[in-house]
Amino acid sequence: MQTLVVNLQPSYTIYLAHDLLKTSLIFDHYRHLGHRFVIITDDQLAATSGQSLQDNLATQGLNCALFSFPTGEEHKTRETKQYLEDSLLKQQYGRDTCIIALGGGVVTDIAGFVAATYCRGVPILYIPTTLLAMVDASIGGKTAVNTPYGKNLIGTFSQPKAVFIDTVTLETLPEKEWKNGVVEMIKHALIADEKIFKQLSDKRSQLNPEHPEFLLEMIAASCAIKKFIVEQDEKEAGMRQLLNFGHTIGHAIEILENYKIGHGEAVAIGILVESYISVKKGFLNQEIFEQIEKIFQDYQLPLATCAFQNPEKFKQALILDKKTLANQVQYVLLDGIGKPHMENQRYVMPIPEAILDETISWADNRFGATPLQ
Ligand code: GLY
Repeated sequence: MQTLVVNLQPSYTIYLAHDLLKTSLIFDHYRHLGHRFVIITDDQLAATSGQSLQDNLATQGLNCALFSFPTGEEHKTRETKQYLEDSLLKQQYGRDTCIIALGGGVVTDIAGFVAATYCRGVPILYIPTTLLAMVDASIGGKTAVNTPYGKNLIGTFSQPKAVFIDTVTLETLPEKEWKNGVVEMIKHALIADEKIFKQLSDKRSQLNPEHPEFLLEMIAASCAIKKFIVEQDEKEAGMRQLLNFGHTIGHAIEILENYKIGHGEAVAIGILVESYISVKKGFLNQEIFEQIEKIFQDYQLPLATCAFQNPEKFKQALILDKKTLANQVQYVLLDGIGKPHMENQRYVMPIPEAILDETISWADNRFGATPLQ
């Protein structure tokens, strides 16, 4: 088993192993966190992983209730949060409760937010079951719900007590979910570690549950990058903005595609477009841009969108980005692989309108798919 300690106040451990959930780790080290335990998961996982976690913990003497809510980003709402809170209240769960969040980013985000405010805060353990939640959502304490005004607009920074990463849960992960995680791992490498980028590139055929050792090594490396960044900047005042690489463009694509495009696909295109801007600004050389392009092709990301077809609409979508400062859209740019560009001591920066116009036209040629409906 590997461990990483996230050094925040208070610190917490990320445990990583194949078949981790079969061990008595939770019982042995975290039993003291509550008198009553509740697993929160989604409807799709409740009968499978939820039930088997509940059974495993029961054999160790830890009886947990299990609450679930409908699967999907569209259920990451204030209403679902209220439903979960009322379910807990109805059964008189108090401050001596410990929540265990089991699932992808939607589950960890919403259960984390419930835990942060229930009885003014109860402890939570995260068991991420998607690659994306393992390397991203479960580390760094972002919790939130979506609103009709935008995603993740209501939430807290609130850290879990521990994170348990068991690669067995990835064996049944759908292809699209898998790609969402791979893109975030590539993003972490691009902003922080050239060696990891090279490994992800050269050993692509081994990044799957059939090679648990390599998979665990890469997940741990990706978690270590995220851990390092959130340790420097827990509340996203500076360095944590680097994690937005590819997301300024990626989010605008998701809006214009009505969220029908996969998050990973949108962010992969976003990374390429922001890398192209880095080339245009003279920070990144063309050869490196081509290496970045190649890794997404090798991982068979579709790299197609019609979002750039109408430049004005694209710019309107861009401005909604939460990093926008005084009406100026901000981008993370690269000097090289693992080398983000810094300007005036900042990790994000605006770009000239002429570069944006030229980029949108290039992107429409490069990624343009069927016309917008
Ligand atoms: N997912 C980006 C962050 O945690 O800051």
